[in-house]
Amino acid sequence: MKDLSLHILDIVQNSISAGALEIKVSILEDQDRDQYSMEIIDNGRGIKAEDLDRVTDPFFTSRTTRKVGMGLPLLKQNAERTGGSLSISSTPGKGTSINVVFGWSNIDRPSMGDIGSTMALLISSNPAIRFIYNHTTASGSFKLDTNEVIEMLDGLSITSAPVYNFLKEMINENLREIQFS
Ligand SMILES: Nc1ncnc2c1ncn2[C@@H]1O[C@H](COP(=O)(O)OP(=O)(O)OP(=O)(O)O)[C@@H](O)[C@H]1O
Ligand SMILES: [Mg+2]
Repeated sequence: MKDLSLHILDIVQNSISAGALEIKVSILEDQDRDQYSMEIIDNGRGIKAEDLDRVTDPFFTSRTTRKVGMGLPLLKQNAERTGGSLSISSTPGKGTSINVVFGWSNIDRPSMGDIGSTMALLISSNPAIRFIYNHTTASGSFKLDTNEVIEMLDGLSITSAPVYNFLKEMINENLREIQFS
């Protein structure tokens, strides 16, 4: 089964295909409410109101290379399996927001996986897109904004291998720190 970081990769790829230039990924681990929530907000072209109900149907896709799209249907199915849900809101011309909730303690909730590698890959292969990553647990919160990273790099390219490695380690290290109280 896909881990959560690979689901995020799928959903963010949809945002990139929709021409988004700003993509926010926010994760909230709320053990009190027994919810593990993920929200992906983009400023891409959006989804028409009449298509909104159909995008979680595997046979709805704007792909031209095959007739089924699996990103959203699979994520929805995996979330519902844990007692959670997936909801989508979108405004054509403005952007899309995908909100997905998993049951935190449910045995079927996929693990987070290597979110550091996923985010580092997305960031370093899409230098024109501003990514904002937020992760909050009961122990604290971590935020990364590529605009701030670019300033800090002082001219070094965000697509360079050392920056990829730095981002990956930095994200995973910060998440380890807020993982357990
Ligand atoms: N963020 C988004 N902005 C605009 N349209 C979107 C967005 N996310 C999904 N869509 C629309 O919903 C459809 C279904 O998305 P889904 O990820 O399920 O499948 P896919 O991207 O078509 O194929 P796959 O993910 O299997 O490569 C897309 O083809 C696209 O038309
Ligand atoms: Mg997709």
